[in-house]
Amino acid sequence: MVGSTMPRKDAMDKVTGKSMYVSDFYLPDMLFVKVLRSPYPYAKIISIDTEPAKSIKGVRGVFTAKDCPGKNRIPIVMDDLRFLAEDYVRFHGEPVALVAGETEESAEQGVRAIKVTYKQLQGVFDPLEAMKPDAPKIYGTDNIFKHWQVRKGDVDKAMREADLVIENEYRTPHQEHAYLEPQGMLAVPTEGGGIQIIGSMQCPFYVREGVSWVLGIPLANVRVVQATTGGGFGGKEDCPSIVAAQAALVAFLTGRPTRIIYTREEDILSMSKRHAAIVKSQYAFKKDGTLIGARVKYYLDAGAYSTLSPVVAWRGTVHSVGPYKCPNVEVDTWAVATNNVPSGAFRGFGSPQVLFAAECQMDEAAYRLGLDPFEIRRRNILRDGDETPTGQRLKAEVGLEACVNHVIEASHWYEKRSKPKCGTKRRGIGCSTVFYGVSLGAGGKHLDRAGAFVQVMYDGSAVFGVGTTEMGQGMQTVLSQIVAEELGLPYENIRPIPTDTHIVPDSGPTVASRTTVMSGQALINAIKPIKEELQRVAGEILECNPNLVTIKHGIATRPDGKGVEVREVLKRCLAERSHLASSGWAVASDTSWDINTGRGDAYITYAFAANVVEVEVDIETGEIDVLNVWASHDVGKAINPQLVEGQIEGGVVQGLGYALMEKVVIEQGIMKNNNLSTYLIPTAVDAPNIEPIIVEKPSNAGPYGAKGFGEQPLMGIAPAVANAIFDAIGMRFYELPITPEKVFAAIKKGGINI
Ligand code: MTE
Ligand code: MOS
Repeated sequence: MVGSTMPRKDAMDKVTGKSMYVSDFYLPDMLFVKVLRSPYPYAKIISIDTEPAKSIKGVRGVFTAKDCPGKNRIPIVMDDLRFLAEDYVRFHGEPVALVAGETEESAEQGVRAIKVTYKQLQGVFDPLEAMKPDAPKIYGTDNIFKHWQVRKGDVDKAMREADLVIENEYRTPHQEHAYLEPQGMLAVPTEGGGIQIIGSMQCPFYVREGVSWVLGIPLANVRVVQATTGGGFGGKEDCPSIVAAQAALVAFLTGRPTRIIYTREEDILSMSKRHAAIVKSQYAFKKDGTLIGARVKYYLDAGAYSTLSPVVAWRGTVHSVGPYKCPNVEVDTWAVATNNVPSGAFRGFGSPQVLFAAECQMDEAAYRLGLDPFEIRRRNILRDGDETPTGQRLKAEVGLEACVNHVIEASHWYEKRSKPKCGTKRRGIGCSTVFYGVSLGAGGKHLDRAGAFVQVMYDGSAVFGVGTTEMGQGMQTVLSQIVAEELGLPYENIRPIPTDTHIVPDSGPTVASRTTVMSGQALINAIKPIKEELQRVAGEILECNPNLVTIKHGIATRPDGKGVEVREVLKRCLAERSHLASSGWAVASDTSWDINTGRGDAYITYAFAANVVEVEVDIETGEIDVLNVWASHDVGKAINPQLVEGQIEGGVVQGLGYALMEKVVIEQGIMKNNNLSTYLIPTAVDAPNIEPIIVEKPSNAGPYGAKGFGEQPLMGIAPAVANAIFDAIGMRFYELPITPEKVFAAIKKGGINI
């Protein structure tokens, strides 16, 4: 069961349209909410007049910060995020007021009728500008939400002793998640003064807390159930708490079920993004390619509120030198307040930006030292027992070299590298290697636990619930396989139930590729007593020691091969009044991290990957055609190989978008391309040939050796593309996305011989 490609549990309902997304729920007497948003990136609110809106036909209520019965805050890390604007608005699109209407149209008319007087203020839109002493203050006295540092060895000395120092500044843009389903929530008042939430989300326990804060009611009075969710990619980590509280406030104050579904425009305008970033990077090498020192300064544009930036910046800090041994390290990361949209979680969580820099640095060093890009990596990559740049001694769980070997072979790397370049369409091939700390690590230690609930029926079927969510990544399928494996029951008999905060205790967020490891382990723990009971009863029937009974494929067998169907065992359990339901709990193993030095064990384990990208650059137009991508990933154990391959394919394409076309355009704080006709993402026609390669170097951290998988495929794609473009035309690009316009301008300036 574990290790085989089983059909997705959610596939049939999704392709036949039976799945219930939040916009499929329609309750009698339901109200609709629309949000009045700030037209300015920074302004003082002088007055709000809601009266004209209240007199519009169909409007049932207009609500501002003053109407919040609880706290006007959404709890995330630092709790500075206003639920509705109070005296100031700090970004274009910030929620100011809510209007409830009998129809979406009446609510919309109500929004247009509200009169707000603003006094516009001078904002700041770039993290480097915001750090200057005379910058407008958006947060505190210095606009810095969070600073992290790593200090190891003597970087100045390494720079002095180096044969080669590579120094560059890299820039990466805001990236939009572009999940298929926009944000949406349904809130239903329940008996006893409670609220039930149904909606699109990654983190039901965050939603529960947000609603409880805003309404000022106990957590136990808020029940959150996940509806089928059309993609998250990190964009439904913290943001759904805002959306849920918007619906909940109206439902709570009007006593009517209330639904809110964002338009694509307001979703892109106001929900989180991948942080735009600046990375200043200085690497020191010996002649033979050995990396002896790294100094990295990482500036994240956090936007107007801190939201998840402190933890995103932490993950970025840990990953900022790449998957290499490096004795001397100095990293400074700043999450900086600006008047841009608040940035948050996005597949890779602060690491794609720094890995872009790290992997381009390695490529440039290889070129300058006359080494092959994989050769310089072989000199430096992490292997079993090595120490990460932040001083974590790795266990025998490092499959990076195997990833490198596989990808070199599959791509015919050496053959392709040596081909001469000529003509107007030039081919090039580039690579990257990455590592990724699995689960929350030291930065989110207190949240790193998970619960599960399992119930076995007398007919041999079973249901289970967990506290993490399905968002398309395949959680239900992978966990069903684990349940089937552990109980020895057929896969078809296993039924996942929607994630529900009243059924399973707070299991932390569904992020950081932690579900397989954490919920998988919680399920195994939940099943243990049930399995023991099945073995005990089977032992009675088979007249053998229960410990010697194995249960597989619906048959309980004793060592000499004599077996009995599990169905028969279950009938006996029924007669014996066996307790065949149980809950389980899993807690991540401990990490040690010293905030002052930035050293210690950051994560419970790491996953690894090597990527090769082949491009063809048209030197007459600057167009870049990606031909092939080979991506090899050490996932520990592929519970479902096809789902791993699916993640690789999806992540690669999302990474290609980041590399070549995606950029949220924000000019002086005003977003210019908040819809999918102007914010372009790759479609099927842009997808190259992708060859996923699975490497399995097991880890003790997860069930069956699994390390968790979901974010890694995106992370190394942008640098591999940039490096392939360098191979094709001899030009380096330090800023994403690498658009045809940029390439064309560089070619014109640099004068390539045609
Ligand atoms: N795959 C699909 N189809 N949809 C998603 O929203 N989110 C990604 C990744 N793959 C996502 C996805 C992100 S950001 C994370 S953290 C992981 O899935 C979470 O999945 P896991 O915890 O089950 O590994
Ligand atoms: Mo994923 S960015 O950790 O939700």
